[in-house]
Amino acid sequence: MRDFERSAMSLTFKLNDGAQIPWLGFGTGTALFNKDSTEAVKVAIQNGVTHLDGAQLYRNEESLGQGIKDSGVPREKLFVTTKLAETPSAPTIKATLKESLKKLGLDYVDLFLIHSPVVALREGKLKQWWKEMEEIKKEGLAKSIGVSNFTVEHLQIILEDATVVPAVNQIELHPYVWGVNSKVYSFCKDKSIVIESYGGLSPIVRAPGGPVDTVLASAAERLSKESGTTVSLGQVLSKWLIQKDVVVVTTSSKVSRIKEALLTASLPDLTVDEISAIETEGSKVHKRFFMKHAFNE
Ligand SMILES: NC(=O)c1ccc[n+]([C@@H]2O[C@H](COP(=O)([O-])OP(=O)(O)OC[C@H]3O[C@@H](n4cnc5c(N)ncnc54)[C@H](OP(=O)(O)O)[C@@H]3O)[C@@H](O)[C@H]2O)c1
Repeated sequence: MRDFERSAMSLTFKLNDGAQIPWLGFGTGTALFNKDSTEAVKVAIQNGVTHLDGAQLYRNEESLGQGIKDSGVPREKLFVTTKLAETPSAPTIKATLKESLKKLGLDYVDLFLIHSPVVALREGKLKQWWKEMEEIKKEGLAKSIGVSNFTVEHLQIILEDATVVPAVNQIELHPYVWGVNSKVYSFCKDKSIVIESYGGLSPIVRAPGGPVDTVLASAAERLSKESGTTVSLGQVLSKWLIQKDVVVVTTSSKVSRIKEALLTASLPDLTVDEISAIETEGSKVHKRFFMKHAFNE
């Protein structure tokens, strides 16, 4: 493996509890939702992915665990996330995580997230859920704990009594939600909560033809010339996220795209003007594709 490939793969962000999280996560939701992810996970790991993003809601934790086993890579070299279902499957959150660990064939996860605040909020249990999450971290069943699809208001509720600040907030993040999500992004930065993005490729995969296309194309052209390799629009989107200190959670059925994604971190940086143009053009439209109910949309 060449040096720049190694350095791209080893880029991590530091969490507020001291743990390190690899910048690129391979997701087993969306395209793999309710499907056997064994082969996809095995292939991703064998091509250099070290961070796997699962969830109880994806109904495929057994296959995520099997893919990890089949990859032949020691568990301690990997960073594995799972998420608490919106409606927990057992009376306590710890019991649901134990069910997940059994399915995954693991003793612990590196990161356990509350997938969405909606049900807990409706039932007035958000603070109680977070207390249970804190217990889980204390017992070592999850090395780090965090949330997903939380707005500033949701975070403020749990922070009132929290003894552990969430390490992560995983949210949909791409230029077409930047206009609304910049608020939660700034709040999390201020509290040292790392943002993880999902749906980051939406401008090219789910909403092509939008105002950000021209900026992405010109940045890709400049980066291609500067790096001497072909830089894709997807890499420009991920590079924008990395430069904002955001973890990128993506997925692909294609080895070429997994390799391309992993190399993104080693590309030359976007300029301040390119970053600003992505955000200005992106903010001209608002398009959210996932978990709209958590954001009252
Ligand atoms: N916390 C949450 O509520 C939440 C919600 C949604 C997702 N997630 C997590 O985030 C992960 C990734 O989510 P995502 O799928 O939305 O990520 P994404 O990075 O926005 O999209 C990845 C998808 O785009 C396709 N793709 C990539 N480049 C493409 C191109 N140039 N042209 C056309 N298609 C292209 C890939 O298909 P190919 O197979 O063809 O490459 C893949 O299915 C999920 O698996 C899940 O783990 C979490």
